[in-house]
Amino acid sequence: MILLCSNGLTSYELLQEARKYVGSAKKAALVVTADPEYKEKNYHVDRCCRQLAYLGLEVDIFDFDTQPAGNLSAYGVVELMGGNPYYLLDSIRKHNAGDVLRGVAEKGLLIGWSAGALVLEKTIALADRYLPQLNFMGLGDLAGLGLTDVQILPHYSKQQKQDAATEEKCRQYERENQCTVLRLNDGEGVVLDGEPRVIRSAMSVEVAGVGFINPLIAASGTFGFGREFAELYPLSLLGGVSCKGITIKERPGNPPPRVTEAPGGMLNAVGLQNPGVDHFVREDLPWLSKQGTRVVANVAGNAPEDYCETVEKLNGTSIDMVELNISCPNVKQGGVQFGTTKEGVFGITSEVRKHCKKPLMVKLSPNVTDISEMAVAAEAAGADAVSLINTLTGMRIDIRSRRPIIRNNTGGFSGPALLPIALRMVWQTAQKVKIPIVGLGGISTWQDAVEMLLAGAAALQIGTVLFTDPYAPQKILEGLTRFMEEQGIKSLSELTGGVRPW
Ligand SMILES: Cc1cc2nc3c(=O)[nH]c(=O)nc-3n(C[C@H](O)[C@H](O)[C@H](O)COP(=O)(O)O)c2cc1C
Repeated sequence: MILLCSNGLTSYELLQEARKYVGSAKKAALVVTADPEYKEKNYHVDRCCRQLAYLGLEVDIFDFDTQPAGNLSAYGVVELMGGNPYYLLDSIRKHNAGDVLRGVAEKGLLIGWSAGALVLEKTIALADRYLPQLNFMGLGDLAGLGLTDVQILPHYSKQQKQDAATEEKCRQYERENQCTVLRLNDGEGVVLDGEPRVIRSAMSVEVAGVGFINPLIAASGTFGFGREFAELYPLSLLGGVSCKGITIKERPGNPPPRVTEAPGGMLNAVGLQNPGVDHFVREDLPWLSKQGTRVVANVAGNAPEDYCETVEKLNGTSIDMVELNISCPNVKQGGVQFGTTKEGVFGITSEVRKHCKKPLMVKLSPNVTDISEMAVAAEAAGADAVSLINTLTGMRIDIRSRRPIIRNNTGGFSGPALLPIALRMVWQTAQKVKIPIVGLGGISTWQDAVEMLLAGAAALQIGTVLFTDPYAPQKILEGLTRFMEEQGIKSLSELTGGVRPW
């Protein structure tokens, strides 16, 4: 069986599809030849290995330039990575590897993505319309291995953003060659098992011009920078990760105890412990941005200058979006003080907007009289999106010592009990603003996720549930998939704002 895709198994749908064909295979080979220079150091290798490991496979790195092609016949699953299609094709030809790849496709699962997909097709001539400069070895014959008649154009929407002529070039190619090219976005693919079956990412959503492969974003402060969770599943299962709140300088956070349980949730007063923006950009972001998920940088500060300086340092980085945290209840200076009046929200948002070149989302506090007014102020000040809600300020007391359990006395309450409040706030806000809303607060199940979309959210964040069930994202995606099938929903975004109030 052959699976052609755009950027590897970077969606829940593609992982599920590949899983069906893994069968009893134990080992996979990841072919890195398509990057003539970096090979094993190619930044896609880590996430590809994690994706294959998630399917229960032990992964070996394979390179046609240094290993006998015949060795591949020992693998039930072979993945050809993207990179330079000319180089990969040349190398496959030099090492007579066509037959062994055909054998893998007949007996097991052959995955090809981007360049790795193009070489399996009849020709790589389509690549010549877009990337002729990659043909530095002067390959004249562009015939591929011919394992399929299907032709794909990978990274379609990304390519369109970079080159306005993308569609025209593709149409011209189709006219000249009398063929149809399948335009695939990252996370999409085509299964070649009988009639070609196209896998589209029905759960993909867009917020402020940023495409998310699905609506699930890990909420700030509950996922760190993702490393611990990446041990459990590939982060590409998630639409995105909102990082722990980042400040201009490193912060040690509040003294312990900083967390405690509460009925239906938990209280925390971590106090924005984080390594500072420079450390984040240097040490955490390079890894996180290679995991095949969107990166949202949650930014906090004590004063407007802190916020502005921090977003400036993020402008030239690979983050996809800034989430302005003006709603942290657990710090003495800054945080929520900017987020509890319309004037405060407008002031800080417009100030940061001047310095922020990334899409800007403002995270709102529920500790206000009318959260929708805060959203209106953020929108008027130039926010591209709002996320709500942050935690509700709460308290717990040790009855024997008569001391608050949290050293900070009060803390932010989060978890399942927040859901009805968050739904109400998202719903009210959706009536007032045109910019997209990312809804969060208490989402633990797929049903909660559907409710939040119906209330008006374009995307979702999940936080506290990750502490009790780190696998919740997977379960929510499973449930959403079933629900979409049951309801005949073609695109999850159809649900946004779909509540029918009495
Ligand atoms: C331990 C902990 C740390 C948090 N840290 C941050 C943070 O740094 N920045 C932020 O905007 N929100 C932070 N939050 C709030 C969450 O992102 C989220 O808004 C809130 O928990 C509600 O969602 P939930 O009920 O799904 O957890 C934190 C929450 C928890 C539980």
